[in-house]
Amino acid sequence: MKQFKIGNYTFDSPTCLAPMAGVCNIAFRVMARKYGAGLVYSEFVNATAISRENEYAIKMMRTAPEERPVSIQLFGSEIADIKKATQLLQDKTDIVDFNFGCPSHQVTCTGAGAALLNQPEKVREIVSAMVSVSEKPVTVKMRIGMNENNITVLKLAKAVESAGAAAVAVHGRTLEQQYSGVANWNIIRQVKEAMNIPVIGNGDVINEFKAKEMFDATGVDAVMVGRAACGNPFIFSRINHYLQTGKQLPQKDTIDLFFEYVDLWEKYEGLKFTNLKIQASYFTKGIPNAAPLRIALGKVASVGEMKETLLKFQL
Ligand SMILES: Cc1cc2nc3c(=O)[nH]c(=O)nc-3n(C[C@H](O)[C@H](O)[C@H](O)COP(=O)(O)O)c2cc1C
Repeated sequence: MKQFKIGNYTFDSPTCLAPMAGVCNIAFRVMARKYGAGLVYSEFVNATAISRENEYAIKMMRTAPEERPVSIQLFGSEIADIKKATQLLQDKTDIVDFNFGCPSHQVTCTGAGAALLNQPEKVREIVSAMVSVSEKPVTVKMRIGMNENNITVLKLAKAVESAGAAAVAVHGRTLEQQYSGVANWNIIRQVKEAMNIPVIGNGDVINEFKAKEMFDATGVDAVMVGRAACGNPFIFSRINHYLQTGKQLPQKDTIDLFFEYVDLWEKYEGLKFTNLKIQASYFTKGIPNAAPLRIALGKVASVGEMKETLLKFQL
């Protein structure tokens, strides 16, 4: 396996859990690290909310010793807020990441996320401001551009490198594509070839074979897995095993994995019950004959009921 480093951190494996809102809370990240992700990212947190010390945003900044090294991802567009949030994160995280990729209208209409993809000067300013107050490595995650006629990632990646970013993760889709079509790995390869800092490739790594394919096709330093890790943090063990041996590791039972998630969800108190229900639907997706279980899980109103339902269907 490739050695994957950012700043002074050397990671156990060249695989990353992608930042995903509503998914990558502390419990899920701990699980992804346990099953082999070298680096885990948080769901994105609003820099302005952190800078105002909003209670919920502060809760989202929690990390656990067993998941470290961990990266907390910020989004926003107000430089003063982004700077303050970066400062407030210093004793909480190992890496501070910034989002230049969210395509959601709620985010882009504030000038944040993927709306920044055609503003190289602002992108440089944001990263410089973060680097100026951070002792921890500052990294970024970006899409490749606004649309296929406006691919800006090469210019932006160079801008963030010169502003002091320690690594860049590239999701090979445009803002216009949202999550449709295929990720453009060719552009990811071009970014890798142009950069002196580590490049993490993202988009369409759905299994161990695709992970190997992405390494071979792009030369990236690490691969980042998003949707395929939802409901299956064990995917990182499978990828690592395949990269090391060329052989497939049998899949662990996803209901067993979900029991583990429920225990972690309870351990890290204060997570929303709605999150547990969303995760239940991820962990039970694709299981043969799971329809009755999924319907029953949709109706539970407490953790106790959730466990009882799982046990009933596992027998
Ligand atoms: C439910 C969901 C939430 C996401 N939230 C974030 C986020 O908070 N920050 C971010 O940079 N990307 C976010 N993404 C994008 C993923 O990190 C990733 O770039 C994208 O899913 C492509 O990778 P994949 O093909 O492996 O899924 C999200 C994606 C999904 C499906």
